Amino acid sequence: MFRPDQKPAPQPDVLLRIASRIGTPTYVYFADTIRERIAGLKTHLAPLAANLLYAMKANSHPAILSIMRDEGLGIDAVSPAELLLVLRLGFAPERVLFSANNMTDDEMHFARGQGVLLNIGELSRLERFGKAYPGADVCVRLNPQVGAGHHEHVITAGARSKFGIPVQQIREVLRIASRHGLRIVGLHQHIGSGILDTATLWKAISVLLDVTDSFPDARFVNLGGGLGIPYRPGENGIDLENLGERIVRPLQAFRARRTEPLEIRFEPGRYFVAESGVLLVTANTVKSNPERRFVGVDSGMGHLLRPALYDAYHEVVNLSNPDGKPVTYDLVGNICESGDRFAVDRSIPEIREGDILALLDTGAYGMSMASPAYNLRPVPAEVLVTGGDEPGRYRLITRRRTPAELVAEVLERGTVPDAGEGRVARTDPA
Ligand SMILES: Cc1ncc(COP(=O)(O)O)c(C=O)c1O
Repeated sequence: MFRPDQKPAPQPDVLLRIASRIGTPTYVYFADTIRERIAGLKTHLAPLAANLLYAMKANSHPAILSIMRDEGLGIDAVSPAELLLVLRLGFAPERVLFSANNMTDDEMHFARGQGVLLNIGELSRLERFGKAYPGADVCVRLNPQVGAGHHEHVITAGARSKFGIPVQQIREVLRIASRHGLRIVGLHQHIGSGILDTATLWKAISVLLDVTDSFPDARFVNLGGGLGIPYRPGENGIDLENLGERIVRPLQAFRARRTEPLEIRFEPGRYFVAESGVLLVTANTVKSNPERRFVGVDSGMGHLLRPALYDAYHEVVNLSNPDGKPVTYDLVGNICESGDRFAVDRSIPEIREGDILALLDTGAYGMSMASPAYNLRPVPAEVLVTGGDEPGRYRLITRRRTPAELVAEVLERGTVPDAGEGRVARTDPA
């Protein structure tokens, strides 16, 4: 029974089949959804011939990254390991922008050595880069002092934000560049995540455009990511038509006024992958107290941190009892924290122990924020529904680790061979 106050799960029969064959907890990604989101955005940005990068922090599974590569996207990488991973997967260095936050000297030299363009968001780092690589090309991340996002933690511009060089300091930027002969070939900003309001996006973009002419070597502006998706039933997603009106047309007009060409880049993460992902879990405990009814599942905040970290909403669908009478539940995880809650006061078709539940829209910042460290619980398996001409075909892309395998990893980490003798050195407690 479809209830308009609930979001439907994508391909419930496929999800149930995967749950029974692979088990739970398991992240499932639908490749077709990713391709559709990319195609949709490309179509709406076509008048700009915009260059799209993928912010791989949203989901850095090699299978997902391979889709991005095959779709011709570049990459926003923020750490040496992210950078190494995409280079190993065959992304050309010139398609990668390296935007490490509070970059160290080692990271700077490493990225430079890999032949990628660095995106620098601190004056002192720009100075060090200039000293080390006089005459080099570089991109600078500016903070337009306009921020937005679905939660305070994900607002990445404005006076309270640690990110970027405040736009008021561009004279300093230009002074450093001229001191070291740096060519500032790109200007970058990323103002936050989960933004559904295109007016705020445009406000920030226009700040960046206002200063672009001060950078005579600029050949691109990277306007960041941040495009939101509709997590709640009835919520409207970002309106791509409206994006055209609000952002594409004014950008076209801006470019038309310039004598030099200017490439436009965007680097979304969430928008491309969030809606492709479902976290499958099993309800293993149903219990009540006089006030509340709890459903405990075989997963928790170590697998999907967003609800605990941001109070984020993820729709919960009872796949194995879709026609059950709605009951109000708190859906809780298996981690020893009271904040380990996936949903509070949520009306869901009756959940029985053993039911398979789907947490929707978990393709972005789900597995990429997962960790087995707290409470030592292995992370979920992952499955890619490959789609295309073969609906329902899927591939296991991350095997489930057993507790024994996790213990082997933990023991290996705590083992420091001593001076070739292979003795086990105990790490002192702090
Ligand atoms: C520099 C940068 N670019 C792009 C993104 C992607 O953001 P979103 O997933 O909201 O599109 C982020 C996210 O934190 C980011 O820090």
